[in-house]
Amino acid sequence: MRATARAQPNIALIKYWGKRDGNRNLPAVGSISVTLDELFTTMHVELDGALDLDELHVNGRKSPGLLPRVTQCLDSVLGTDRLRARVISESNFPIAAGLASSASSFAALVVAASAAGGRERTTHELARLAGAASGSAARSLYGGFVELRNDGDSIAVQTILDGESWPMRVIAAVTSTAPKPVSSGEAMEASRKTSPFYARWVEEQDSDLSTARDAITARDFGKLASIAEHNCLKMHSVMWASRPPVVYWNAATIACLERVRQLQADGAAAFFTIDAGPQVKVVCLPGDESQVAEALSNTPGVESVLASGIGAGAALMNGD
Ligand code: DP6
Repeated sequence: MRATARAQPNIALIKYWGKRDGNRNLPAVGSISVTLDELFTTMHVELDGALDLDELHVNGRKSPGLLPRVTQCLDSVLGTDRLRARVISESNFPIAAGLASSASSFAALVVAASAAGGRERTTHELARLAGAASGSAARSLYGGFVELRNDGDSIAVQTILDGESWPMRVIAAVTSTAPKPVSSGEAMEASRKTSPFYARWVEEQDSDLSTARDAITARDFGKLASIAEHNCLKMHSVMWASRPPVVYWNAATIACLERVRQLQADGAAAFFTIDAGPQVKVVCLPGDESQVAEALSNTPGVESVLASGIGAGAALMNGD
């Protein structure tokens, strides 16, 4: 009746932006990400017949605001006639740091909830359940370089290459911990409904995915860098052209991009990506990590820098 699972956030190199079915949270496009390792969320789920309502504690505090999405996810995993649950979530990185805490949280939640309810599920089924709660969470069920594809009226997720086969470091420059002005789900809808570039974004995604997939299997860093930066800037252009516009960046975001261009000019194997927030994530080869981390730390407006390698997918923890 109780279980604990751990999952790592993932960072998209080819982005999920837009939904083809909002009710079932199905993405309009496929995506490719890397699952991190040093950063993680631990999720404990305890089913308790004495509870009248679900309870959620995030990093030691009751969090009623986040509860409806958790309740909905538990219903999808265990059915609506389930026992109520006490859910305890702890992350070892700041939730407001724009590091996709919803991905690690929902990935860990579906694993822990299934085990607490005694349901045997394949990773593929768990990924679909996590994706229904938050699109990017489906990718955190898998480790390494992960591709999510649209598959009929559902999704299919798989590891393209494991992290050991092509080690990389991801350095996140945190430029603001203020709450997001618009959630990614709302911003995606605004893009779909109003951005003149949205249709073209969707149309070009398969070609970007295949370029990135080829770059990963060939371990061609320059090719991956070029397509990942292009795909990221294209996603933000779609948002900027929405009405009203969605601009997540701040001055330090741009300063970090300039810093990455300097690093590249100096010969570093590094590229940037930015999600629905102002933080800049720089992916680099391990030999360039210290140079990248130092350059980002010294960039005006950067509050902190977090580093991680590439890790494994969500997993149940022993001891429960
Ligand atoms: C920009 O997975 O947070 O990070 O499905 O509405 O929960 P919902 O969206 P979410 O969106 C992530 C968007 C992104 C790109 C990505 O991770 O692929």
